[in-house]
Amino acid sequence: MTTVPETLRENGLIDCISVAVLVLGGDLSVHYMNRAAESLLGFSQRRAQGRVLFEILPANESIREAIIEVGGTGNSVTLREVELNLVVADRGVRVDCTVTHLSQSTGQEQFVVEFSKVNRLTQLAREKAMVERHNASHAVIRGLAHEIRNPLGGLRGAAQLLDRELDNREQREFTRIIIAEADRLSALVNRLTGSYRPPAMRPLNVHQVLEHVRKLVSVEANSSLVITRDYDPSLPDVAGDSDQLIQALLNIVRNAVQALEGRGRIVLRTRIERQFTVGNHRYRNVVRADVEDNGPGVDDKIKEQIFFPMVTSRPEGSGLGLAIAEEIICRHGGLIDCESEQGSTCFSIYLPVEEG
Ligand SMILES: Nc1ncnc2c1ncn2[C@@H]1O[C@H](COP(=O)(O)OP(=O)(O)OP(=O)(O)O)[C@@H](O)[C@H]1O
Ligand SMILES: [Mg+2]
Repeated sequence: MTTVPETLRENGLIDCISVAVLVLGGDLSVHYMNRAAESLLGFSQRRAQGRVLFEILPANESIREAIIEVGGTGNSVTLREVELNLVVADRGVRVDCTVTHLSQSTGQEQFVVEFSKVNRLTQLAREKAMVERHNASHAVIRGLAHEIRNPLGGLRGAAQLLDRELDNREQREFTRIIIAEADRLSALVNRLTGSYRPPAMRPLNVHQVLEHVRKLVSVEANSSLVITRDYDPSLPDVAGDSDQLIQALLNIVRNAVQALEGRGRIVLRTRIERQFTVGNHRYRNVVRADVEDNGPGVDDKIKEQIFFPMVTSRPEGSGLGLAIAEEIICRHGGLIDCESEQGSTCFSIYLPVEEG
């Protein structure tokens, strides 16, 4: 059975690309899948080999029709932004799909099917501009926080001295207000600058972090809020600062609790992603942790800006939770992403697994 050119396989090139590649026989049985295809479809090459593609990808009529068309005409077909229904996932993935006909010298007919995730590609293009904008806004905040901290200390100290000098109770009320407000501002400044501490990296399992956060939130939440776990037990360790990762995930999970107004379902999910790009670096393995809720979804008006500081839809919110979470994940060399619609909001964090 001929599959993919031997040179590509021998050099491992085919397994390094992030596009999912499948080679099918004329009867549409799977001859070969690269690593990205295994990861996308949730089937190992060993389990899929010899099975007809549509056994492992049922309910994907447009792709079946494309392959039949390519078989008839011999011309390649590309379908843009089709919803790929996966057996292993509860929702579809948006992909571009290209089908090409391969005729072998032996006369054997084969098809090459490529899937590339649309979200990920558009995301990569958007990412660079986003990172630059975020860096700029974080730099402004960091600078501001620093500028506020010093005079604030002086202000508080002076109010304290004045407080001791004053005999009049009514006048001391004013100094107490100055001190209390200075403390409030100082807590805000600490929150702003706290996440900028470089992380102290140690090997850790993301499940420990998630379990810590789950317990904290379960104590605060009532019984109408159900938090379920969907963990991949084979998840490898990542290098991370446990306190900071707890802070980041806590901010995300608390947002979900607030969006649900105490009633609904939160799913904490972990998965391993292969051949994943963050910035300019391609990682062989990345750990993904999802926080998904079935609440009303992110308000359309602020959807594009939620990771910016001071963006909030809640009267009592400071709009810092996600900006801090993003800062922390970036410092870990990772990525944070959100997909949201009415009834389903999913924040995903990606943390690179160190190799070797
Ligand atoms: N799971 C979610 N569902 C719906 N909207 C969300 C969700 N998570 C975040 N948001 C939206 O994103 C906004 C920004 O979130 P962020 O955590 O940065 O700030 P905040 O929660 O408003 O305030 P803070 O976290 O500082 O107390 C929220 O005000 C909310 O509108
Ligand atoms: Mg928040």
